[in-house]
Amino acid sequence: MERQLATILAEAAAAAPGIQTRPDFDEFKARISGPNGALTAAMRGMAAMPKEKRPELGKLLNQTKGEVEKLLGATLHRVEQNETAARLGPPIDPTLPSPDDLAGSLHPLTQVREEVVGVFRKLGFTVAEGPEIESEWYCFDALNTPENHPARDMQDTLFMPAGTRCADAPRHGDEAYLLRSHTSTVQIRTMLRQEPPIRIVAPGRCFRRDTVDATHSANFHQIEGLWVDKQVTLRDLKSVLDFFVREVFGTSAETRLRPSFFPFTEPSFEMDLRSPNLGRLSNRWLEIMGCGLVDPKVFENVGYAPEQWTGLAFGVGLERIAMLLHGIDDIRHFYANDLRFLRQFAS
Ligand code: PHE
Repeated sequence: MERQLATILAEAAAAAPGIQTRPDFDEFKARISGPNGALTAAMRGMAAMPKEKRPELGKLLNQTKGEVEKLLGATLHRVEQNETAARLGPPIDPTLPSPDDLAGSLHPLTQVREEVVGVFRKLGFTVAEGPEIESEWYCFDALNTPENHPARDMQDTLFMPAGTRCADAPRHGDEAYLLRSHTSTVQIRTMLRQEPPIRIVAPGRCFRRDTVDATHSANFHQIEGLWVDKQVTLRDLKSVLDFFVREVFGTSAETRLRPSFFPFTEPSFEMDLRSPNLGRLSNRWLEIMGCGLVDPKVFENVGYAPEQWTGLAFGVGLERIAMLLHGIDDIRHFYANDLRFLRQFAS
């Protein structure tokens, strides 16, 4: 009996590696543990064994049964894996290029942002960033914006619910959090972080409580510029912005500064652009950004000596630039994720 059991196990172990398919496996299993299988026969043989040997033989039989079951289980697992592999077809080579036309491309706003930032890089500007959830002090107070300024109105600015906490945007006091309505906040954060001279551009997302139409979006992008140094003048402002406009819109583009007002610049201007290459908007003055010389009050607020430092600042709407450059007539195209639109900017 002992020999019989050992032989069953040895033969099964020898045969198992050769079993590859489901029919092979079924036959293999029947040969061992089926009604006419070797192990079943051995179990029946127990009855003929002397009574005193039965406990010991029974134990051995159970052990053998256990081993055989393990072997059958492992073999079945392998057969099932073969079946799955067969269903999946030939192995996939993940290093091959995709057969589908799914190559991604940069969003047109990203492309224009990179282009604009690249222009300012040529003038020695580096890129700075600030949080999109911002506190009221950075968005308004530090920028010399009075308490009763309309921009602070709940109708214009999206305030966060009371109790909002934001580790990225340390507050100045216990003022409210809001979604920044312009990137001028980064002027303040940069000046608090470092000493002049400073020359940064800060591209980023802004939010306003605008009713969405072809030219307004509650979510849009600006590129802020700030240059602080000794004796920065209006001439610097004009030449920096002219350089930007000519690089992006071509040398036939003209600019003009129109007096305006911002609480954080003095004097303040709107800059208009006119170009013969803008399709139906050609040869018309088009407003593209706010700008001016940094108001000394802002320097005071960040602890710079106002009699020592001067600066220029500007804020340009990224969507506006992209729309003019590409003849896009509706700002909503940028956010609709319509591939028929986006594919036109794929390179
Ligand atoms: N922050 C202003 C706006 O959003 C633009 C601006 C930036 C004006 C810097 C002057 C200087 O309208």
